Amino acid sequence: MSTVRIEFPGTRFEAQEVPLRACLPLHLTVQNSPLLFGCRSGLCGTCLIEVESAADAAEPPRADEREALELYAPGNPRARLACQLVPLGAMKVRKIASA
Ligand code: FES
Repeated sequence: MSTVRIEFPGTRFEAQEVPLRACLPLHLTVQNSPLLFGCRSGLCGTCLIEVESAADAAEPPRADEREALELYAPGNPRARLACQLVPLGAMKVRKIASA
């Protein structure tokens, strides 16, 4: 199975290898990452992150995620909702607070 490396720069957490196209809330927990999840359906904004990666390291956000991002992180092109992100390649993620 192919995996994707996810790093958490600036934190005490080690990088995690998750399956390609993994549902991140199933693999990233409070024990192994700085990310927190709430609704897991793209509504609450709890899992708001900034992603640093190659352009093709994740599927682009769908319309409903884009709509939520306009609310939680207006003008931030790196913002994503971790619960909606489909990883396709290595990335660095940072938890951010909503606007
Ligand atoms: S956990 Fe609620 S938007 Fe991701």
